[in-house]
Amino acid sequence: MALSQAAALVEKVLGHNDNAITEQDITNPGRDRAKYADPSGETMKALCWMGKNTVKLMDVPKPRVVEDRDVILKVTGSTVCGSDLHLLHGSVIEMEKGDILGHEFCGVVESYGAGVKGLEKGDRVVASFQIACGDCYYCKQKLSSQCERTNSNTLEHGMYGGTTAGMFGYSHFTGGFAGGQAEYVRVPFGDVNLLKLPSDVPDEKGLYLSDVIATSWNCVVDTGVEKGDVVAIWGAGPIGQMCAEFSFINGASRVIIIDSNWRLDFVKSKYPKVETIDYSTLPSGTSVTSKLKEMVDGRGPDVALECVAGEYAKGWSHYFELMLGLETDSSEIVNEMITSVKNFGRCGITGVYVGFTNHFNIGSLMERGIRLIGNGQAPVHKYWHELLKMIQEGKIDPLQMVTHRVDIEDMVEVYQKFEKKEDGMQKVYVQTKFSAPAASGSPALKRFN
Ligand SMILES: NC(=O)c1ccc[n+]([C@@H]2O[C@H](COP(=O)([O-])OP(=O)(O)OC[C@H]3O[C@@H](n4cnc5c(N)ncnc54)[C@H](O)[C@@H]3O)[C@@H](O)[C@H]2O)c1
Ligand SMILES: [Zn+2]
Ligand SMILES: [Zn+2]
Repeated sequence: MALSQAAALVEKVLGHNDNAITEQDITNPGRDRAKYADPSGETMKALCWMGKNTVKLMDVPKPRVVEDRDVILKVTGSTVCGSDLHLLHGSVIEMEKGDILGHEFCGVVESYGAGVKGLEKGDRVVASFQIACGDCYYCKQKLSSQCERTNSNTLEHGMYGGTTAGMFGYSHFTGGFAGGQAEYVRVPFGDVNLLKLPSDVPDEKGLYLSDVIATSWNCVVDTGVEKGDVVAIWGAGPIGQMCAEFSFINGASRVIIIDSNWRLDFVKSKYPKVETIDYSTLPSGTSVTSKLKEMVDGRGPDVALECVAGEYAKGWSHYFELMLGLETDSSEIVNEMITSVKNFGRCGITGVYVGFTNHFNIGSLMERGIRLIGNGQAPVHKYWHELLKMIQEGKIDPLQMVTHRVDIEDMVEVYQKFEKKEDGMQKVYVQTKFSAPAASGSPALKRFN
């Protein structure tokens, strides 16, 4: 049995905490039609996890209002995130067959419970990827990703010494909520977790406030990029790309981005000031660390940002250790970051790490005074008003990373292409039958079937 499902069984034996004030494990309205499905019997298309490396577009019941602060959204836009690949690969634990994926989405309010304030039918909104109650210790500080009342998973609590908030489409480890890669989605505490989109911000720009824009902003400001800093970024995916843009906005003098494929040229084409390192073409005897020292006055960058993840091994030893379950995450990138930055440099981890790692260079960290910061699942609510304003003012443009508009019907192919980095796919916008025609400046529809 895969690790992911074994963990779900362990958690079933342990039982949930009693902290959550919203129902857990509704990852598909079909799990209990009488309680979770719309009484009309209407079905919808939804992308479901069906086992390691398998996703499937299925007809499933449309969700209904279950709790009085629920909102049912007609989804008009969603996307695929690097985090979805961790679910696809089974490296995030506690997935179950039939779980609906997707944590970045926008849509139109279709119906809501009696307790929802400030939203009307027809409002155009974007959801945060995390489900926050809006009222607990962390929510009061806008640290919405750490809400204490939306995830009662005991395994997460045991492993981490605390839990994160519940998340859409992100396993039972984070509460078990159906995601938005679907035609409809149920949003608990809809008045907290939905942000209205003004008429001058089309869905194609507003959607990414759900996650990637807020996450990249958090990575940069939480790690602490300051004026004049030299910043090195691992990973030229959507998160790494937006971190490059946001580092410059926060005053970085140089940004060096590290990856091994066409995405380096893609990011450079958007921000010509960016410097790149293709680690796959470094001559033997040259490491990412030695290259960065050479490029930055022998000492290395001030700041390092991790925008990759712990599941991708570089060398054989971590490859086997991961495969044999001797660790859940490779320490290779974090070690590169630690050894690359100058003494007392700062390293921030935004790429997903699940559990435990071997061969961590704690000596360099201690002796050279390196500040290693877990950026956390990004607290979207802390930033989304400010970031929306920046989009309205034209200071940031999420469309810089969007290479494809695709249809939900082609989701399975889109997952494969995004995973393999084929077809020049950096970030997609997924339309449904409810979407408006493509906004100006956004890519035209591309079908894969
Ligand atoms: N903390 C949060 O709140 C949060 C939110 C969203 C995404 N994330 C995570 O951020 C990470 C990046 O997301 P994304 O959507 O850009 O993912 P992505 O998978 O599209 O991009 C990752 C990039 O890293 C590159 N890469 C792989 N190994 C590398 C290495 N050894 N050195 C340098 N680059 C390497 C890949 O080629 C790829 O281009 C993912 O782990 C994702 O789960 C975190
Ligand atoms: Zn994400
Ligand atoms: Zn809360």
